[in-house]
Amino acid sequence: MSIAATSTIVGSFSPTRSPTGRLRPRMALRSSGISVTPILADLQKNCATPLPVLRHVADAMAADMRAGLAVEGGSDLKMILSYVNSLPTGNEKGLFYALDLGGTNFRVLRVQLGGKEERVIDTEFEQVSIPEELMFGTSEELFDFIASRLARFVEKEGGRFCLPHGRKREIGFTFSFPVKQTSIDSGILIKWTKGFAVSGTAGKDVVACLNEAMERQELNMRVSALVNDTVGTLAGARYWDDDAMVAVILGTGTNACYVERMDAIPKLPDQTLNSRRTIINTEWGAFSNGLPLTEFDRDMDAASINPGEQIFEKTISGMYLGEIVRRILYKMAKADDLFGDAIPEKFSKPFILRTPDLCAMQQDSSDDLEAVGLILNNTIGVASNLNARKVVLEVCDTIVKRGGRLAGAGIVGILQKMEEDSKGVVFGKRTVVAMDGGLYEHYPQYRSYLQDAVTELLGSEISKNVIIEHSKDGSGIGAALLAASNSKYGH
Ligand code: BGC
Repeated sequence: MSIAATSTIVGSFSPTRSPTGRLRPRMALRSSGISVTPILADLQKNCATPLPVLRHVADAMAADMRAGLAVEGGSDLKMILSYVNSLPTGNEKGLFYALDLGGTNFRVLRVQLGGKEERVIDTEFEQVSIPEELMFGTSEELFDFIASRLARFVEKEGGRFCLPHGRKREIGFTFSFPVKQTSIDSGILIKWTKGFAVSGTAGKDVVACLNEAMERQELNMRVSALVNDTVGTLAGARYWDDDAMVAVILGTGTNACYVERMDAIPKLPDQTLNSRRTIINTEWGAFSNGLPLTEFDRDMDAASINPGEQIFEKTISGMYLGEIVRRILYKMAKADDLFGDAIPEKFSKPFILRTPDLCAMQQDSSDDLEAVGLILNNTIGVASNLNARKVVLEVCDTIVKRGGRLAGAGIVGILQKMEEDSKGVVFGKRTVVAMDGGLYEHYPQYRSYLQDAVTELLGSEISKNVIIEHSKDGSGIGAALLAASNSKYGH
């Protein structure tokens, strides 16, 4: 697939509309005649995110950021140095590749850059889904698979893509897991997240893993930049917009990065990095301070492959929202006969209800909520009456609202920290937060709850300056741009 040179990579934040053109109003429990179960009432109470809770989360996020910048291991937030000290300027030229590994799919991409005048001359990409067994296999198996697909993609190069004679192809590697970066082109995997449990990678340099696999495939490429997806997104957004200062991913997992002043990073060993600003990958998925959690969150966490870790991620990101709702409904089915007597076997299967299912249900604005009934039947195998469907929608709304609002509070926490250090530089002018990830892109209610929280926290005047923009697929192009700015051939 080819994207025209003029296509805008950084789109604007579109209003939150359902396919039928309107947002589903939150249902008034009593007036719509739902029999409110004590479980639902408790849930709503425990998941509530009124302004004081949001404020606490934003403040705690800012404080944890400072603690993580002060000393290594100083807080839940790792505040990882990206070694990206300059963002793209638009002058980048040439053919560059990107490889994006971060979830159940990985993407390979090539881009021909034409400098300030021509910008993106052409791009092509391919998306490959990762066979489930590779997520639990060995490091070699995973990287061999990736390198072989990359090799196939490179073979198809042609058309407007052109590598100057005698040059090695260069690649920006977006690796969306916590990595202790050791230079712009190397980094040690700290741990897997998002359900990956590949053996033999933690503690290793992931670029070396990729290089070895590429050698086995006889693929002669050089990784010139290793970046987190948030960093790639920020680079991609900055290419088009000088005001991009923060990037957030809300997809299967979640994370944020931002532009930081070098002199605000006490843990920096020495000033070997010689520019005044750098990008910090916060790894905010590990944040946990003051979150309104429930028994369902705690049970899900205890049953996960990384208990006690990634608590913010488990509360607000796409991998988990469906599973939290399934656990709540399962309890309601057992305790309150929400779906009658029968509890089908598959209802008890973790992750059988997915976040896209919640989203599809929340777009149903029909009187009898037929789509909700169908989805419940197809996923967890239950029959439902209208009352049960309304309760299900209330549960979805409660969990999605909490997630979206907490994500908004996290963003304000980052902006607040930046503003405290340089008065007026963030809130006193247009500041862009580049957003990517399927949850943000495809879930209108989530997006609108997030925006509401940002506006409530900042007030209507300041929040006018904070532009949350969807930067679709920015991380792929961003990684290629960073490969260009770190090219061994210069640019
Ligand atoms: C990872 C981050 C990543 C985020 C979004 C998290 O699970 O730890 O490195 O940026 O997911 O993909």
